[in-house]
Amino acid sequence: MRQRQSSDKQVLAWAKQGFPPGTEAFAYKDNVLAVENVLLPVIAASVGTPFYVYSATVICRNYRAFKAAFAGLDILVAYAVKANSNQAVLKLLAGAGAGADIVSGGELRRALAAGFHPQKIVYSGVGKTAEEMDFALQSRIGCFNVESPAELQLLSARAQALGAEAPVSLRINPDIAAGGHAKIATGKAENKFGIPQAEALQAYALAARLKGIKICGLDVHIGSQIEQAEPFARAFAFAAGLVQDLRRQGFSITHIDIGGGLGIAYQAGAKPPLEPGAYAALLRQYLGGLGLSFIAEPGRFITGNAGALVTKVLFVKPTAAKNFIIVDAGMNDLIRPTLYDAWHEIVPVVAPPAGEPCYQSDIVGPVCETGDYLALDRQMPLMPAGALLAVLSSGAYGAGMAGNYNSRLLVPEVLVEGGRFAIIRPRATYDSLLAQDKIPDWL
Ligand code: LLP
Repeated sequence: MRQRQSSDKQVLAWAKQGFPPGTEAFAYKDNVLAVENVLLPVIAASVGTPFYVYSATVICRNYRAFKAAFAGLDILVAYAVKANSNQAVLKLLAGAGAGADIVSGGELRRALAAGFHPQKIVYSGVGKTAEEMDFALQSRIGCFNVESPAELQLLSARAQALGAEAPVSLRINPDIAAGGHAKIATGKAENKFGIPQAEALQAYALAARLKGIKICGLDVHIGSQIEQAEPFARAFAFAAGLVQDLRRQGFSITHIDIGGGLGIAYQAGAKPPLEPGAYAALLRQYLGGLGLSFIAEPGRFITGNAGALVTKVLFVKPTAAKNFIIVDAGMNDLIRPTLYDAWHEIVPVVAPPAGEPCYQSDIVGPVCETGDYLALDRQMPLMPAGALLAVLSSGAYGAGMAGNYNSRLLVPEVLVEGGRFAIIRPRATYDSLLAQDKIPDWL
């Protein structure tokens, strides 16, 4: 294959249009890509490839920008731990004043270990176990976002058993389509999340009857990677109506949890998605006058564009049908391209000379699956074996969703601040991989 592309296609998208808005931590210094003031090849020489790298400065900047958009409102910005749950990242955000949105006992332990104040922790998710509830009750977290009457009953039973009272918001499903992909939309009636809106009043009545439950709020998370205002506006309008109905019925609703979901730009030259300022304006417009406090649960917005996955070219394989650039990171390291058809901008760590010819190529990993790719049909210059590539916008739902498939080791994570960097998760070892399995003594 390896046909040269026509001349108008020779300019790489990112070279023409810059990196996606929000990825400013990554920039070329004398043609070598750096994160903040650290050159990526320097990190690669220290930890090997592949690795994840995050900019501490940008993570904090994103948190502060999000929080500042809501200035004047009583709001807890509870970072969605699932987006990137490395404890160094969590500690950075806890130190900046953030709360945490968690969805499991594991995330609760990570959040507590990283220093989040328990009262600033909210617990979401459709499938909390009795053990997880007990631990969260004993830890005195700020709020349980409860997603079904059955969960409410169990939480009531556990709270009574422990002599505790569970602060509760009910997550109501507003039946609103939102989100960048069907697999990350949560607010439609057919999604497993939340209590159907027609059953909302009944569920609050149940919560009011149950011992050990203290109603305090309403939760309306509708999905992730939402780029437009409209779904948020509909959700906030829905929430405003429901708060008024609930108050008329005598329920005390003091806060609304608006969930997460604010999208980020993934593509060079893409129209930037809804900005925090416009998002906050919607909140003020629909919910500002109700005397409520707020919780927001941004994940991707805080860490997504602050991180990249750096990988090394192993081989280039031009075939009759396609050009394949085979790299050392695969779908087990970054599953978003194959799971959600997600686009991540992929850029060479050493910038090619201007006018370098490009070839349409698939960038694929070593995993034995046809779906193991990081990008399909990209214009890429000829990449020699050993060249490094950075997969941008990988700071959220990258390392956290990685796995061991094909007995591959989890890759290291590195945090950069200014001119210094630290390994915040070392590369796993083959010894630890082998030690995971136990062989019965009868084998
Ligand atoms: N709150 C709740 C209850 C959530 O379920 C989520 C995300 C968030 C907050 C944070 O949403 P964010 O601000 O990050 O959009 N793995 C997918 C995204 C799954 C999102 C799941 N829930 C991806 O890589 O696109």
